Amino acid sequence: MKLLPVTPEAIAEAAAALRRGELVAFPTETVYGLGADARNPDAVQSIFAAKGRPANHPLIVHLPDAVRLGDWASEVPELAYQLAEAFWPGPLTLILKRSSLASDLVTGDQDTVGLRVPGHPAALALLRAFGDGVAAPSANRFGRISPTRAEHVLAELGERVGLILDGGASQIGLESTILDLSGGKARVLRPGGIRLEALAAVLGYRPEVVKKAEARASGTLKSHYAPCTPARLVSAAELDELGGSSRVGVLSRREEPAAFAGVWKTLPSDAEGYAYTLYAALRDLDALGLGQLYLEAVPTTDAWLAVRDRLRRATTPALEEAQVP
Ligand code: TXA
Ligand code: MG
Repeated sequence: MKLLPVTPEAIAEAAAALRRGELVAFPTETVYGLGADARNPDAVQSIFAAKGRPANHPLIVHLPDAVRLGDWASEVPELAYQLAEAFWPGPLTLILKRSSLASDLVTGDQDTVGLRVPGHPAALALLRAFGDGVAAPSANRFGRISPTRAEHVLAELGERVGLILDGGASQIGLESTILDLSGGKARVLRPGGIRLEALAAVLGYRPEVVKKAEARASGTLKSHYAPCTPARLVSAAELDELGGSSRVGVLSRREEPAAFAGVWKTLPSDAEGYAYTLYAALRDLDALGLGQLYLEAVPTTDAWLAVRDRLRRATTPALEEAQVP
């Protein structure tokens, strides 16, 4: 396994590895991705093996530019180009009817494909050097917290990946917003880096946020993005009553109370700052081998929608994932 800082040479090496059918982990502005040549079935297959991910979970195809939409999707509504114009490169994934290029393996046998042009300069440089679609889920083991730094990828995948490009911390820190354009009205399948009101400004209406999508859309499994330590979502009042023992970890936006006995992490009080630090903070707490984590609830406003979604998933018992077919 090689971990390389982002340089023109490293980008060229990574593009060559993709062409040979190898896996490359690379930074995006949302989280790190585990990439493979989307046209190479063996390469795509090895993503599932490295992640320990069931084969019927669809992958996002990352593209160097919106011009390629028509290659990977069989129908590209005008709206898709308008959204691409407004938000790409950036943290928006569009679900469209797939073309024959998008294989069953990439799409998890669905008749749609997820497409995104990421905003991170290293991701764009890699995609341009490679020149076509790169299938890439988040670079973590299945069901675990997404990596927002190269060292997280190393901790998750180790020798399962040949090359990791280190582009520093992902600027956004939560996964992309997934917008389904394959049906009638646009619907949000996963809240993320692009806010609803920003989408509404282009759509002309506020998209519905789908609560219970098909179980196979893995980001919609309840216990995705979960730490190993049992974690509960609690109100500020509940947290105050807990008192805390040395075996307890807390994520809060408030300062640590004077008498607190456990491990207290204070996260930024604004939604962007919180999102940026959330996964690394969860990972740090998880690594301490504590008995219980308490995640303090965040505001119920739109700005916090994606963070709320991830906190909910992180605090669902890990058992549920195994129960989903
Ligand atoms: O920000 C992101 O989207 C990151 C970076 C690396 O781009 N990628 C990411 O990939 O989060 P992944 O595989 O961890 O999550 C992608 C989500 C999954 O929940 C998957 O089920 C859903 O996208 N998805 C992909 N294709 C889909 C499709 N055709 N229909 C419905 N959901 C789809
Ligand atoms: Mg993921």
